[in-house]
Amino acid sequence: MINIAILGFGVVGSGIAEVITQNSEIIKKKIGDSINIKYILDLREFPDSPFADKIVHDFNIILNDDEVSIVAEAMGGLHPAFDFSEQALKKGKSVVTSNKHVVAEKGDVLLKTAEENGARYLFEASVGGGIPVLRPLGTCLAANKINEINGILNGTTNYILTQMIDFGKTFEVALKEAQQKGYAEANPSADVDGIDACRKICILAAIAFGKLIDPSEVSTTGISNIRLNDVKNASEAGYAIKLIGQAKDIDGKMSVSVAPRLVPHDNLLSKVDDVFNGVLVNGNASDDIIFIGKGAGKMPTASAVVSDIVDIAGRPEIKNQQWDKAEKTDLVSADDVVASYYVCTSSSEDAVKAVFAEYSALSLKDGEFAFIIPALKKTELDEKLAKLEVISCLEIL
Ligand code: HSE
Repeated sequence: MINIAILGFGVVGSGIAEVITQNSEIIKKKIGDSINIKYILDLREFPDSPFADKIVHDFNIILNDDEVSIVAEAMGGLHPAFDFSEQALKKGKSVVTSNKHVVAEKGDVLLKTAEENGARYLFEASVGGGIPVLRPLGTCLAANKINEINGILNGTTNYILTQMIDFGKTFEVALKEAQQKGYAEANPSADVDGIDACRKICILAAIAFGKLIDPSEVSTTGISNIRLNDVKNASEAGYAIKLIGQAKDIDGKMSVSVAPRLVPHDNLLSKVDDVFNGVLVNGNASDDIIFIGKGAGKMPTASAVVSDIVDIAGRPEIKNQQWDKAEKTDLVSADDVVASYYVCTSSSEDAVKAVFAEYSALSLKDGEFAFIIPALKKTELDEKLAKLEVISCLEIL
């Protein structure tokens, strides 16, 4: 019997307990052993839960129980989740987690600690919720040089954008619904301002390029300034606006960013709606591969966490990945990134003509002129836009 402990009995933690219980026979057949939830750590009591007798309030009970070989961390936040994970790994217990905050900021440290102590540290659920994407990227695509990853990585913002576009709901109503469905972070700013997507693209980039970039180094823009006019202009021109996390290899350096981008309708990511996430990976041998599935929610996320437990139980000998911290010299400066853009301005078309030699007009209505410009460097873009009254400017994927 494999004894595990779950840290945190919130949305994800309770989902882990449910998946393990519901699918116990299926899992047993796969690993030839059964998984026993020995403890659940939480500050609260859950007298009405079928797992009430597993609840403990002191992490040391778990840490000092040699029968517990795997810890599933589903607490969220950096502390004490990081500290508990590190202590468990130092005791030789493997740790699995859905906690992208910890993985994006401390994944390199915890992977090293795991390796030094003969344990494993896995975090499939930290990116893309229920989508198996990290393991395929690290193993099935291991023969490739990864050129580029583009992902819709946050279910809440994708849900909000879809509800606004398709049903004309207000931002506030759509956010509230996402919260009720258990998709949103405790602090909605983490979703809406792109912070959550930023952590996830950092994790994907670390797997693809072997270097963990500090999330604070990533140019990150959220969706709070997206206007219905831009959504309509984009749609009429053949694009959907999506919050895209992007990681690119540019001449051996990493370019990582998060921003709402115009995705052409012939790109499959443009069709990934609601709580679904999509990750498009381009490898030099595989070409484009897309992963799509539910990016948030109790059971999809729990599915990924439990798959990590099954992996450890079934293949304990597999080595951990090892990441270095990305240095400034490993990164492409946001100023040097070259892209084409959608711009909406209250300046006249003549003013636009005086600034941009080339552009394609999209629409002129209500005193707003929208157009698309061909690829140019960010510094050059900023210089030119300073000469216009800009209402919105979004990169085109
Ligand atoms: N708040 C996150 C999202 C949860 O909406 O995608 C899953 O990481």
